[in-house]
Amino acid sequence: MTRTPEPVTRRRRLRLRVWLPTAVATLLLVPLGVLWWSSLLPSSLSVMQMGSADFGTGGRPLEHHHGDMHGMSVTDLVADPSRPPDVRVDLHAARATLSIGTAQVSGYTVNGTSPGPTIRAREGQLIEVRFTNDSVPGGVTLHWHGVSVPNAMDGVAGVTQDALPPGQSFTYRFVAAQAGTYWYHSHQVSHEQVIGGLYGALVIEPKGGTPPPDAVARAHTYAGVRTINGRPENLVVATGAGGQIRVRVVNTDNATLPVWSSGPVVVAAIDGNEVNEPSPVAGQVIRVPAGGRVDLLVSPASAGMRIQLSKATAVIVAAGGAEPAEPEQPAARFDPLAYGRPADVGFDPSRLDRHFDYLVSQLPGFVKGRPGVWWAINGKLYPNVPMFVVAEGELVGMHIVNSTSEVHPMHLHGHRVMVTARDGVAATGSPWWTDSFDVQPGESFDIVFRADNPGIWMDHCHNLDHARDGMVAHLAYDGVSTPFLLGGPAGNEPE
Ligand code: C2O
Ligand code: CU
Repeated sequence: MTRTPEPVTRRRRLRLRVWLPTAVATLLLVPLGVLWWSSLLPSSLSVMQMGSADFGTGGRPLEHHHGDMHGMSVTDLVADPSRPPDVRVDLHAARATLSIGTAQVSGYTVNGTSPGPTIRAREGQLIEVRFTNDSVPGGVTLHWHGVSVPNAMDGVAGVTQDALPPGQSFTYRFVAAQAGTYWYHSHQVSHEQVIGGLYGALVIEPKGGTPPPDAVARAHTYAGVRTINGRPENLVVATGAGGQIRVRVVNTDNATLPVWSSGPVVVAAIDGNEVNEPSPVAGQVIRVPAGGRVDLLVSPASAGMRIQLSKATAVIVAAGGAEPAEPEQPAARFDPLAYGRPADVGFDPSRLDRHFDYLVSQLPGFVKGRPGVWWAINGKLYPNVPMFVVAEGELVGMHIVNSTSEVHPMHLHGHRVMVTARDGVAATGSPWWTDSFDVQPGESFDIVFRADNPGIWMDHCHNLDHARDGMVAHLAYDGVSTPFLLGGPAGNEPE
């Protein structure tokens, strides 16, 4: 007689039935837990310790001191303190209920309105802005979008300064080096504060002579309502003595702004950079990226001109007579890559000192303790994103690839960049200098810039919801560090 082994096997199977799922679950959950845990930001984090240094390729060997303060502090990088200001402005931020048409929207004001006042200066002047937080609970800062300010004036909470709590002030001082259309906005909890109205325009007029007549059109969407200069209606402007006007369009939203007109307009400048030999544009949509600006030169026919800023609102350049009818949105797109004529830029963009890759993808994981599929930069989720390190004086190239399903309006602080190619197609028009450019899904950009402004600079997506979700990296100059902390006692939260 042989004993049957069956009951033993059954017991073993039973035990396995209990233990196996538990073991598998543990094996799966432990790494997930670790991922979740490691994605939680410590209560304070220095940007110096964020992610890992990326030295790119080429250039001399550099060091990036992970953590400790060394070399020069961002706070040393200021405008000449002995130079008196030419333009002085007082700005006050407040929490407020905004009247957008008939709607009441909770948001923010600068000097009692949203948008705040347009600051005007002449090229070469020193601007001094004393900025006070009257009543914004979470703290505020001001960032000068598109202006190559000294790093300490860049207004990024936790990187170049602490957020200002209610009752505190900060004085921004910088030289308006280049004529053009720019804007300012809070860089503390910006995905909420900018969208809520804490922004305004900065116009730097060319020096010498009388500035040509212009109109600023700040396009912004408040709680789903499209506006120009805070009003959900058309903006009517008149041409100056010469029958011409420069319409300065500023897109302060998170999404691309489509612009088209009832007649030919000249794209005179992109992001504050004059286009070389621009020609009239008609029958094309000019797509202004989030954060971007275009200056349109308009010399209307006697019937006037109508410039749509999306379907909802328009700038009407009146020339007496009736208001022109709404033009249909053209299918053709304006393309800066082939607009205007080439010009010498004073360097050979193919002779780079250093080169980086900035690859945007989507990866599952945890960002700030939240599970999901998030934006990744070079395969890493925030805060393990790269810190791009350069040396002053270098000509730097960057290859940006968007392998995600959404457009990313890319914005590097403190520098203007020149687009040399898009999807491998070389630029053939005027040098395309920009600070805010849309990288479409599947698209690649090659850009160059001169590392001529030492500091630690954000290099992020200007869809501020994407930035909040981790689409933020930094460019650091060798030997510069910051004493400020993300989080920390000031509650710095730049995105
Ligand atoms: Cu318009 Cu990081 O900024
Ligand atoms: Cu984005």
